[in-house]
Amino acid sequence: MKRIGVLTSGGDAPGMNAAIRAVVRTGIAKGWEVWGVKGGYQGLITGKILPLGARDVGGIMQRGGTILGSARAPEFKTEEGQLKALRTLNEQGIEALVVIGGNGSQTGSGALHKLGFPVVGVASTIDNDLYGSETTIGVDTALNISLEAIDRLKTTASSLQRAFMLEVMGRDCGYLALMSAIAGGAEACVIPEVETDPEDLAQRLRAAYQKGKEHAIVVVAEGAKYNAETLGQYFSSHRERLGFDLRVTILGHVQRGGAPTAYDRILASRLAAGATEALARGEFGVLVGLNQSKITTTPIEVVNSSKKEIDMELFELAKILD
Ligand code: F6P
Repeated sequence: MKRIGVLTSGGDAPGMNAAIRAVVRTGIAKGWEVWGVKGGYQGLITGKILPLGARDVGGIMQRGGTILGSARAPEFKTEEGQLKALRTLNEQGIEALVVIGGNGSQTGSGALHKLGFPVVGVASTIDNDLYGSETTIGVDTALNISLEAIDRLKTTASSLQRAFMLEVMGRDCGYLALMSAIAGGAEACVIPEVETDPEDLAQRLRAAYQKGKEHAIVVVAEGAKYNAETLGQYFSSHRERLGFDLRVTILGHVQRGGAPTAYDRILASRLAAGATEALARGEFGVLVGLNQSKITTTPIEVVNSSKKEIDMELFELAKILD
């Protein structure tokens, strides 16, 4: 192998830069050239690709986002788009590609793999909803951001005896909401995987109020059937039953920004090094992930056809602890 490519795709995740850096430097250490694709799969389609040296990826590890840029690329979902991308790879003499991203991005890797192109995925999404890796790049940082928000909300909530609905990211998955609720000591958590009756929630808040609690925090995943806004509207007409005055805070993309934690930098470096190792072994069409503290590979078809389940024991634990 002489030349490989690397791209970041889909929602950015803190730690992606550490992963790019590790692909470049471990690739160079193996005697390869490493080229970076700008703007994810869209950049492959339009031919935005450039060589990266070891120094080009210096000083990026502590930065959030991705120096290569990312995109949601609808054109790449079409066969025509995939063939254009393949043409770029062939024209530039790229012999294998590392794709750093989550579910949508690894569906893209699966498509390239099916077309016969050597590809290896690196598990990266703040949502932690990607099968094949117990945790993914960006999750730890995103969790720490919601934790900081909970800690801050608690102080203002206590001053005015209020309840807060805090909405965190997670389009289809309640992992961030659940773990933030456990780590932040929230009164309740609402996730897409579990049907929540707003009436139950109202009763729980009321019970907390009657116990004399100074505040109540409910962590809501954005993808839950009732998101923070709809719950806020529902409760505004039932305010007297809650006891607490209620406010809604939506973290939104704040959760994806900022410097990655030490954990995410190390995870990203290990997974990316695992990806170049897999390429060197000739193991293509796999996702590199972390399982039981070890770097593992899972066939991309298995990743793309499986659903990562939430641990319901943790949901029960959150209920007991609140
Ligand atoms: O990357 C995952 C994620 O952050 C989800 O939690 C969220 O629903 C989505 O991306 C937001 O996507 P976009 O940045 O395209 O608005």
